[in-house]
Amino acid sequence: MTKRTLLFLAALCLLTAVQAQPVKLSSPDGKLELQFEVKDGVPYYALDRLNKPVVLPSKMGFTLEWRDDLAHAFVLKDTQYDTFDETWEPVWGEEASIRNHYNEMLVTLEQPVGSVESMDHSTEKWATVMKIRFRLYDDGLGFRYEFPMFREELGVRSEALAGNTPNALNYFWIKEELTEFAMTGDHTAWWIPGDLDTQEFNYTQSRLSQIRELWDASHKDGGWPWTGFSPTGVQTALQMKTDDGLYLNIHEAATLDYPTMHLDLDDEKLVFRAFLSPDATGYKGRLQAPCTTPWRTVMVCESATDVLASRLILNLNEPCVLEDVSWIHPVKYMGVWWEMISGKSSWSYTNDFPSVRLGETDYAHAKPNGSHGANNANVRRYIDFAAENGFDALLIEGWNIGWEDWYAKQKDFVFDFITPYPDFDLPALNKYAHEKGIRLIMHHESSASTLNYERWMEKAYNLMNQYGYDAVKGGYVGTIIPFGEGHYSQPINNHYHYAIVEAAKHHIMVNSHEAVRPTGLCRTWPNMIGNESAMGTEFRERINPGHTTILPFTRLQGGPMDYTPGIFETDMGKIVSWGQKMKTTICNQLGLYVTFYSPLQMAADFPEHYEPFMDAFQFIKDVAVDWDKSLYLMAEPGDYIVTARHPKLSTLNKAAEGVGTLADGKKGVISNAMRFVYAIPDEVQLLTPNSSLPTPRDVWYVGGITDENAREVTVKLDFLKPGVKYEATIYADAKDASGIPGDHYNPQAYTITKKTVTSKSALKLKMAPCGGFAVSLRSL
Ligand code: NOJ
Ligand code: CA
Repeated sequence: MTKRTLLFLAALCLLTAVQAQPVKLSSPDGKLELQFEVKDGVPYYALDRLNKPVVLPSKMGFTLEWRDDLAHAFVLKDTQYDTFDETWEPVWGEEASIRNHYNEMLVTLEQPVGSVESMDHSTEKWATVMKIRFRLYDDGLGFRYEFPMFREELGVRSEALAGNTPNALNYFWIKEELTEFAMTGDHTAWWIPGDLDTQEFNYTQSRLSQIRELWDASHKDGGWPWTGFSPTGVQTALQMKTDDGLYLNIHEAATLDYPTMHLDLDDEKLVFRAFLSPDATGYKGRLQAPCTTPWRTVMVCESATDVLASRLILNLNEPCVLEDVSWIHPVKYMGVWWEMISGKSSWSYTNDFPSVRLGETDYAHAKPNGSHGANNANVRRYIDFAAENGFDALLIEGWNIGWEDWYAKQKDFVFDFITPYPDFDLPALNKYAHEKGIRLIMHHESSASTLNYERWMEKAYNLMNQYGYDAVKGGYVGTIIPFGEGHYSQPINNHYHYAIVEAAKHHIMVNSHEAVRPTGLCRTWPNMIGNESAMGTEFRERINPGHTTILPFTRLQGGPMDYTPGIFETDMGKIVSWGQKMKTTICNQLGLYVTFYSPLQMAADFPEHYEPFMDAFQFIKDVAVDWDKSLYLMAEPGDYIVTARHPKLSTLNKAAEGVGTLADGKKGVISNAMRFVYAIPDEVQLLTPNSSLPTPRDVWYVGGITDENAREVTVKLDFLKPGVKYEATIYADAKDASGIPGDHYNPQAYTITKKTVTSKSALKLKMAPCGGFAVSLRSL
């Protein structure tokens, strides 16, 4: 250490001694209070609720390459306050408008000239500037680090500090983010193990102190590949409950050009520290000022239903950047998909070759394997069924050459995304679909070869435009190429974002599987209509009871999930000999359409599995997927959720209208949700240009799901319009229904009853083990 540095440290000690008082910020309702202070040069924050700590003093900062860390020698230079209150309208969502109301505090920290050292000597000339912006809402805290390019951009009021000197931080490489979340007790948590490559796990419910002993077992039945980093590592969004009954949730918002944050627990002190996903060289972010980190969030709610109602993550994202959003719409779809997942059909076309080379392998003369699902006749069968039942779209997987080699080959040039198999007539199938008012959804499985996907993306999106596809399902199964990268590092997060931005230029909506868990970016880029990024229905019998009662608290906080519900034949052994029984009932599957929010909602099973149960399928036909109001009536993570939703009329038929604008698209198609809300009789097949719409009815849908425990709930219908009569159609588990595999397994037993109700009525609804219910309510 130089003499100069020592002198500065001495001066710093004096300064910090003077500055010992924490600066504070209150939430708009005054219940939450944030404190921030710099102690011995180290920044700390803490959070209280009603004067009781929720987050104990927690360190902030970074360790960096080539220079001293952003972890000491800080001086608090300035504190500015602001308040903000606006209401914004999402393009699609759980409600028509969202209030964004917070108080803000921006602290400016400096490492004074000479107080720290750097390889490029910049710190000898210039101060290092790091700001931290805190936003405190009634339901939680968001904060992020900001790095200006110049010191004078700080808006510092003191004249002595003015002067246009650069920030000593210009290009910098993160070794560790030091942000801590110090817990006040050994909370109950619903967690999945921290992993750099997969998020597809069952949740484990335990005390924080038990994470280490349960960490190995928490991987059971999960996705692949596993790349753990610590036996106390967990993923966000992490839902917790304190012994006082407070619901805490740690996550992040607006993760762009930055690695994803996991949490690593010091299980003696009960302090979480951020663990950023490293890139292939081990760095955890290469930044260039001016820049900001993602928001780190701590949600604090009095009830579980408040967690579901929170819009903290969306609010911390930037407003929509797309000027024209007219091409974005909700989608209810079916798919040539479950056939492959269940093992009935294959994605691949031929078994002729030990391996294939795109451009060389002669598919035209290859012998079909006889099980290829995406063949013309089968696709037409699905189009017919989807059209007859008022769906918007059909996904087809396995349409393109290369699937013979897709899994676990670590092959760079695995797909070209533009060449169909010989038995998939892409132009003809699109025409056939459009004439029936159905859009085909494109499928781009990249096999995690992001490099290859980027090479082909423009051609692939152009092909979609040429044939009228407006949505794509992406996929990132396997080991990321470029090798050494994980699924959530800065460069790979940038790839996912690039795919969204490029798709928007082509007016394409994106639903990516295996991509990074969302952090609310769909507010800014609403063409991001879905993501998987968690264990979804494809895990079949491996999904634990109660899994779907946890996801809305965790994974769905960042954005909608393509969970792919709607399985009616839950005994997979009826499809293939090795199939097993899924832990769910038909009514549990119906309940998911309301308890799980997504503007992209699938009816995932085969047409022939719906045909024997068309009376129950009616709920899936009738349910909307975009809402102007959502009410979270009852919930407890891991146990049950009951939700009521009111449809948004303006988007009920938007997908159908879009198909109608295509040269070969059928005009005047009526989606079944529109038919239900407007009570349009089945005889009316089309809306002619001059036909006037009937007056819409007032419609609500209520859904409930439970874990392995049967439950009875009483749902008060006081959200209905007073004095109006409604017809309630109640889809409920039968008395002897059960979704638990074993002697009493009886998942297809349900009752459907109709009742006239008013806002004064209450419905008593029974849910079987692993069961649920669904209710549609339409004014008479
Ligand atoms: C995994 C996805 O989650 C699944 O939906 C898809 O069918 C396969 N990858 C193949 O792309
Ligand atoms: Ca998946």
